[in-house]
Amino acid sequence: MHAGREWTCSPAAMHAWESPDYEPSLPVSEKSNPLTRDIDRASASHIVRILQATDAQMFQEDTGATYKRLVSKQVVETLMEVAEKVELILKDPRDSLVVLSGCGTSGRLAFLITSDFNKALRELNQSPVYRYIIAGGDRALLSSQEAPEDDPELGALSLKKVCEGKKHVLFIGISCGLSAPFVAGQLDFCMQHLEVFTPVLVGFNPSHQARDDPMSGCTFTFRSLVQRMEELSKSKKAFLINPAVGPEAVSGSSRMKGGSATKILLEVVFSAAHAAAFTNSPITFKGIQEHVDAYRQSLDITYSHTEGITPLLEAAGQSLRHGKRVCYLGWGSVGILGLIDASECNPTFGADFEDVRGFISGGYGQLNNNEGPLSSLGPDFCISHEDFLRQVLPSLDDWDTVLLIYTHSDSVSEVAKLALRVRGKTSNIHAVYHQVDGDTAAAVQQSDVNKLCSSSLKITWPSSAPESFLRMQWELSTKLLLNAVSTGAHILKGKIYQNHMIDVQVTNSKLYCRALRLLQKLSGCTESKCEEALLRAIYNSDTLTAEITSSDVGSHTQTARNRTEVVPLALVCLLTGCSLQEAESHLRRHVIVREAVAAHMS
Ligand code: F6P
Repeated sequence: MHAGREWTCSPAAMHAWESPDYEPSLPVSEKSNPLTRDIDRASASHIVRILQATDAQMFQEDTGATYKRLVSKQVVETLMEVAEKVELILKDPRDSLVVLSGCGTSGRLAFLITSDFNKALRELNQSPVYRYIIAGGDRALLSSQEAPEDDPELGALSLKKVCEGKKHVLFIGISCGLSAPFVAGQLDFCMQHLEVFTPVLVGFNPSHQARDDPMSGCTFTFRSLVQRMEELSKSKKAFLINPAVGPEAVSGSSRMKGGSATKILLEVVFSAAHAAAFTNSPITFKGIQEHVDAYRQSLDITYSHTEGITPLLEAAGQSLRHGKRVCYLGWGSVGILGLIDASECNPTFGADFEDVRGFISGGYGQLNNNEGPLSSLGPDFCISHEDFLRQVLPSLDDWDTVLLIYTHSDSVSEVAKLALRVRGKTSNIHAVYHQVDGDTAAAVQQSDVNKLCSSSLKITWPSSAPESFLRMQWELSTKLLLNAVSTGAHILKGKIYQNHMIDVQVTNSKLYCRALRLLQKLSGCTESKCEEALLRAIYNSDTLTAEITSSDVGSHTQTARNRTEVVPLALVCLLTGCSLQEAESHLRRHVIVREAVAAHMS
């Protein structure tokens, strides 16, 4: 542990990942971040500071060197052009749509952003023009559905269905790594029907780093598709928004900065379009640039509370280490961020759905998702506070952590009522509360909640910001904070080795390739030896049959869905030359995966 030792981040360290010599074979979104190399051995407060520095990389200036940044001239200009397209649709919404689509977190953020902006339209008595698509359908909003990400045809079909009969569609495909075949299929479909569709791609790698692997049923790769889009962008028939935001804190975990930057960029575009369409405020370069920059303040305000965030990480880490739960109880749209963060813990950390769970006041009524209530799919899809009271509360004790997440526009008395019931079972209850400057009325009610909580984090925002922007800031702040809590807690549980998630789920082709790379990096063995070990772990067999070795990656990832700890198993086998059974018993002895790996690495 580095506890006690002051952690500082030099400007050179902030920029180290940009060197052409730094992990040159990897795209930015898959590189390991030099700032987080020792995050696995850090204390809770140290983890928060490292995450703060990693998130700050999103707003690094454009040095004119290798990478475009959020506020680079070219990026801002493209944001303006896309905002103008949205403005046209808002002014004449007949037969038109703006469709956002993505896989995993990218799809979840598509959902959140479309909900927010449709709500804004309804408040203005305008018809809602935004639609979302998430690979795997609405169940993917709340759970890990990794396989549909590999299906370009499914992507194209789902887009076609949403846009039936429309004459103008602005399609925004989000793939942080410029890699998801599902999104590639949709962008290709748009390019075949340019009379209706204007395709926009949002991601965080330069175009030459787009994924170049073959995709099922396609003659093109993501990279060749991006090249076609670049060609079309010259005549403004397609748009690419792809600044670099630096490598993720946990390598490849694009739910973190990739997700935050997606939210920032799309909110900036839609806010500018709404202002232009409904309040006659022109879309300007300066306006866009300043709006992007205003989000830097959300980050600064959030991380100015490091001392309040640290106990949350500590509590959540303790709970997970003891095999207990972390529950987010949220209200309003910040509650949706709780659902999203909880849903990501299974694919990111191999967590059980019970480990980190989100619940929201109003349940599916508040969510208002395409497919309506999903509770009939099973307990992991039960998301209301009533579900929490019924399913979870009876078994809680002091080892479980409960986090209340709300803002001053929610009913604080309702929060206090729920807090009281939780307090009857556990004293390990915490609150995160957003309020605006000078809100004294809410402060009085808030003291009732404070009395029930072992820690309360009040984040105060300047009252000068417009209400709609305030809400978006609260959401981003909540996202950063919960990403820090869940990532930090899993680090403290020992799930991360250096800055790699060793126990990565191998449930789609991108994750399969990531697992192989990780095995090569940690074992030093050849790619073919690593693939052999990975397949042995996936198929749970020390000998590989011809049937296994001749199967495609799709079959491997399908089989891997029913297995756990395949990468740690493969790694132990590679490092020791032992059998799978021996590797299994070794991992059983070392409950903490990081320690099991570290024991062999030394
Ligand atoms: O397949 C897993 C995953 O990495 C998710 O964690 C992520 O949210 C999703 O893929 C989407 O990735 P991208 O935005 O790069 O397409």
